[in-house]
Amino acid sequence: MELRFEKAEKLKEKPDMNNLGFGQYFTDYMFVMDYKEGKGWYDPRIVPYGPIEMDPSCMVLHYGQTVFEGLKAYKGENGEILLFRPEKNMARLNISNERMCIPQFDEAFMVEAIRKLVKTEEDWIPSLPGTSLYIRPFIIATDSKLGVHPGTTYKFIIVLSPVGSYYPQGVKPVDIYVEDVYCRAVKGGTGFAKTAANYAASLKAQKVAEEKGYTQVLWLDAIEKKYVEEVGTMNVFFVIDNEVITPELNGSILAGITRMSAIELLKDAGYRVSERKISIQEVYTAASEGRLNEAFGTGTAAVISPIGEFCWDGVKLPVNNGEIGPVAAKIYDTITGIQSGRIEDKYGWITKA
Ligand code: COI
Repeated sequence: MELRFEKAEKLKEKPDMNNLGFGQYFTDYMFVMDYKEGKGWYDPRIVPYGPIEMDPSCMVLHYGQTVFEGLKAYKGENGEILLFRPEKNMARLNISNERMCIPQFDEAFMVEAIRKLVKTEEDWIPSLPGTSLYIRPFIIATDSKLGVHPGTTYKFIIVLSPVGSYYPQGVKPVDIYVEDVYCRAVKGGTGFAKTAANYAASLKAQKVAEEKGYTQVLWLDAIEKKYVEEVGTMNVFFVIDNEVITPELNGSILAGITRMSAIELLKDAGYRVSERKISIQEVYTAASEGRLNEAFGTGTAAVISPIGEFCWDGVKLPVNNGEIGPVAAKIYDTITGIQSGRIEDKYGWITKA
């Protein structure tokens, strides 16, 4: 398939790269590709960023048949454009597609399309520490129909946004509210897929947590409200004694690419890493015995975010005196070092655009 290019008449003014926040600015161009049953994916193009036309009866608006991804491009020290494991994001998008009855696409072709789009928007990649160009691929069902069925037409779109840190407090530890009323996902549902419904289901709990002064919610398993699952925007890790523990992938947790990378880096650094069930009670008991050393989250948007406090059932649990611990600090330095080209990429995780 040929990727065609449509030139923008006028380019936007760039934002203040010192003050980007997250997901507030969008670049001059976006990628669009269509799908029609019987024809497959067709007409991939890089076109000026702008509104898309949708029918009010468009399926995605009613039944949420949509998937998305998040990955980042970095400006290396000598000006190279570095993408972190884009093939993993494309593979996960097809896994999400399978669950959401959205047709598969050619992953290698889409990695190439991402490279070209990012290359086109090279001037938008911020270079200050902690900044990057966030890449948001997503697919929506576009049929105009009100019956509940998978669509027959789709749009695959990629938008780009120069970003700083996801959380307003930057890399300072976040405080987390352990949610024991609402749930995000259940085995057999869509928890492992990156689909809007999981995030829609999280909004109410997130709002309540924010009103109580917490940054994010820690989800527990939906049946027993006992086992730790994930935080709304990141996977979670605990350091107890000499073990680094993260909940095992059980069908309702997102298989984070930063999670997967962190596990590999930790094992290589000699840590004992366990992917296993961990109850919130185990975390609180370990803390009461002085064995909870630190906790942190991993995610593309969140990078590595230390956790400063949990609150479960009204009981506050400060972690590592509200400071970043040595394990989180090491992983943060290594992963951001590889992503930005400061540290040699011995894993082959970087794709140059
Ligand atoms: C990401 O980390 O890229 C995410 O998609 C999480 C969030 C911004 C929805």
